[in-house]
Amino acid sequence: MRKILKVTFGTILLVLIIIQFYQPERNSDSGKNYTSDFTSSYKVPEDVKEILQTSCYDCHSNNTNYVWYDYIQPARTLVEKHINNAKKELNFNEWGTYSNRKQERLLTSMITQIENKEMPIPSYVFIHREKKLSDIQIKVLTNWLKNPE
Ligand code: HEC
Repeated sequence: MRKILKVTFGTILLVLIIIQFYQPERNSDSGKNYTSDFTSSYKVPEDVKEILQTSCYDCHSNNTNYVWYDYIQPARTLVEKHINNAKKELNFNEWGTYSNRKQERLLTSMITQIENKEMPIPSYVFIHREKKLSDIQIKVLTNWLKNPE
């Protein structure tokens, strides 16, 4: 029995070590400036900008601020999957290239997602506590998003 346990734990440990070597390409553009960025399309107040950049841009832009534990597998693969899916739906860096209709749909969608606490993704916030939106931040964001200028 003991031997089986040892072999099992040994195998699990080995697999965990081996998968660390699989590190997909990072979502990074070395801090490029985009004329089509969301923050160029409106006069975004500083507090709103900061909340968006902290809590949304990691998945919804071409540049993720990774933290050290993002590099640990299998979390890494999961984060990268979130980023790819998120950018397909909404990339703040490409906001200016979207049609008016798409922008309007996304603004409404953002408000709903934020108010329902569906964004940032709960499982992500569970680990990245600093990305969690406080009730005040939710108010600041949604109030501005309801009437962006
Ligand atoms: C951990 C990554 C992650 C973070 C952080 C994140 N999102 Fe998302 N977001 C996603 C993914 C993935 C999707 C794609 C749909 C899904 O899986 O729910 C998505 C979808 C969306 C959509 C739906 C787009 C549509 O077509 O209707 C909106 C709006 C959105 N996110 C807004 C936000 C806002 C606003 C923030 C910050 C408050 C945020 N997201 C933070 C990953 C993220």
